[in-house]
Amino acid sequence: MKPEETSSLYYSDYLELDKILGSQHPKSDGKTDEMLFIIIHQAYELWFKMVIHELDNVRAIFDTDHVQDNAGDMSIAVHKLKRVTRIFEVINRQVDILETMTPMDFLEFRNLLLPSSGFQSLQFRIIEAKLGLKMDQRYKANYYKNTRPGGFNQQDYDSITAVESEATLKSLVTKWAERTPFFDESLWEEFQSQYPVEKGEQKFWSDYKHTYKESLNGPVELRQMDELERIFYNEGLGEFSMEAMRAVLFIMMYRNLPIFQTPFDLLTTLINVDEMLSQFRYKHMLMARRMIGMRVGTGGTSGAGYLDGALRQHYIFKELTEVSTFLVERSKLPDLPKSVKEKTSFNI
Ligand code: HEM
Repeated sequence: MKPEETSSLYYSDYLELDKILGSQHPKSDGKTDEMLFIIIHQAYELWFKMVIHELDNVRAIFDTDHVQDNAGDMSIAVHKLKRVTRIFEVINRQVDILETMTPMDFLEFRNLLLPSSGFQSLQFRIIEAKLGLKMDQRYKANYYKNTRPGGFNQQDYDSITAVESEATLKSLVTKWAERTPFFDESLWEEFQSQYPVEKGEQKFWSDYKHTYKESLNGPVELRQMDELERIFYNEGLGEFSMEAMRAVLFIMMYRNLPIFQTPFDLLTTLINVDEMLSQFRYKHMLMARRMIGMRVGTGGTSGAGYLDGALRQHYIFKELTEVSTFLVERSKLPDLPKSVKEKTSFNI
């Protein structure tokens, strides 16, 4: 670009600061902390916008039949998801600034805000929905479904349900996991089973099952075998099919193989994103309790009770954390045949 083409660009015009800085209109007089309250919310919403932008980029990478694991697409996706976790780290700390406002300072203007509430944050709901949280999985789903004052307006409600009907990051990751090519029977012909192979079972998985069983201690832990059968050999878990769950377990167990390092990074980053959202909900819940005690929320929910329920229930990638139940010691892992090692190395 030539210098004369850029010379007319002015800092505040480029950033449209007149709009952003002209958008703080407290309802109370200038003596309250309402300016702080507004700016904190706006800062959150700006960062939410950035998170949505990155989630869209990541979903676009996975929205194909063949993610280029070797060609860098996967590491771009992981990089962007790590950015999302960093953003949440920063915005979660903003609660500290808001907490310099005391509960009585808040009371000075709280009633002027009724019935609006952070509950109605469309962008926060879109983040949850794009990751994979569905309306019916939400705590007290009925809070979301009515469009009374305090709830969503019809337009926002429609936007959230429209996002829910798109491919979520969770569903795309599930499909990606299902496509991993490591259980093609031809790769496992030379696999040396340590145990008698169960009828109809793939040799590796038959051996893994025995190894896992041996790692369990006592009758209580042995009950995990029923869960193992259900999750990895029959139904799958939640949105993850049996095939997807096997792929995730395999990646987690053999994460040191070169080709699995980025997929493993992806899985742990997804767990981190979930954790950062939970930290948001947790810090926000403590802050809300401290500000309003057990009063109902301005959005008309039970307040602290609702926030606690959402915190406990709104995990999105819980299937991934559950896989840890089924890991075995690295030294006990079945050795992989040469054909699989070759397929999982970069030198092919
Ligand atoms: C004085 C400070 C705050 C108080 C007392 C407060 C209180 C509440 C309460 C009681 C709810 C439950 C819904 C309701 O009935 O209103 C809620 C929801 C929510 N608030 Fe706040 N809030 C505060 C600040 C913030 C800030 C700064 C944000 C940043 C965006 C925020 C975002 C949210 C979100 C996203 C929800 C929905 C949470 C979920 O469903 O998991 N709140 N808030």
